[in-house]
Amino acid sequence: MLIRLAQLLHSRRDLFERFGEGLVEFGIRGLGLAAQRVAGAFARGPRGVSDVVGGYPHFGSLAVKGLEALDTADFARKIRAAFSPCCLGTWPTPLESHPVLAARTGVPELWIKREDRSSALYGGNKVRGLEFLFRDVGPGDVVVTIGGWGSTHCLATARHARALGAQAVLAQFPQGHSDSEARTSRASGSVARRTFAASSWTGFPLEWLQAWSLAGRLGRRVYIPGGGARPVAVLGHLLATLELAQQLSAPPDAIVTALGSGGTAAGILLGCSLLGWPTRVFGVRVASWLVANRWKVESLARRALRLMISRNVPLLHAPTSPPLSVVNGMGDGYGVPSAAGEAARAWGAEAGLEVDSTYTGKTIAALPDVARMGFTRVVYWHTYAAPGSDL
Ligand SMILES: Cc1ncc(COP(=O)(O)O)c(C=O)c1O
Repeated sequence: MLIRLAQLLHSRRDLFERFGEGLVEFGIRGLGLAAQRVAGAFARGPRGVSDVVGGYPHFGSLAVKGLEALDTADFARKIRAAFSPCCLGTWPTPLESHPVLAARTGVPELWIKREDRSSALYGGNKVRGLEFLFRDVGPGDVVVTIGGWGSTHCLATARHARALGAQAVLAQFPQGHSDSEARTSRASGSVARRTFAASSWTGFPLEWLQAWSLAGRLGRRVYIPGGGARPVAVLGHLLATLELAQQLSAPPDAIVTALGSGGTAAGILLGCSLLGWPTRVFGVRVASWLVANRWKVESLARRALRLMISRNVPLLHAPTSPPLSVVNGMGDGYGVPSAAGEAARAWGAEAGLEVDSTYTGKTIAALPDVARMGFTRVVYWHTYAAPGSDL
């Protein structure tokens, strides 16, 4: 039933998308004070955010004046100490300035946060969240997760699970075809214990059930949601933003990242909030608004903040409310190459970057618009790592 509804929505995408995005945006922003009160109620953790940090408890409209400078390295250590993530990545990831891509996109000062270089085993943005999601995973465990046919989340999950002595069972749903999707799909097929790839959306529930039941028979089952989008995983991306604060001498005007399941943008948003940065976070939406939207990003960020507070991580000052813009970069569908995205892949290649069709091509394609809006100091979050060979 749900699948049929999804299919119907998919086939009426243009109309529903605009209407739906409008509703989501209206629901969050348009209701003004009432919506903010509701958001505030949601934001109150077990002990009440405002009690702990002495400030406004959510990503509403109040900015806090007179912020102290954060000791970001110390703050990052406290987050790690409170959550004990495992160690999968090599930190910090580099921050590079890229005159070639800056010229192509028209952004006057462009930096690239090289999240693709997060691990020699397999990099990309997903490693950040997996460090937190895998903190109890060990030999004999079976990690089960879902993603599109060419999901880098599935590949990262399978490779890093194997490095910890665990196995991965994957359930995959249809997406658009591209060369990057095909390479990632082959790579995850070769490293996962088993991949159940549905050839249609109607077949997906059965594949998912088979994956779930096989994982249970093989060992202790550990479920990781699609994209790894859990509040605790958001903390990994928050740490990335704290790294950025050590790499730049002043806040950027904008940070631009792909928006899929939302954890990456949520971590960046939370990071900017806790740093007191006025930076605008752009999430370039590459999937349906049903899964990739402002509400999801803000909700993940709020829940991650509540988690930190529940573990007594001292925040030093009240969170502020950095602006978030969700822009539509999806084109004809999730994973379906777009003309703008493919042109941007070529720009990336000129700059020595590997860029994929599903996420990063479409995100780089949004940079000229960001420049036209007048943002001059911009960080582009490069989230895609090519599969390489199976190590
Ligand atoms: C290469 C790449 N970039 C960006 C994203 C989007 O990140 P998020 O799902 O955290 O929104 C994904 C998600 O799978 C990804 O694989």
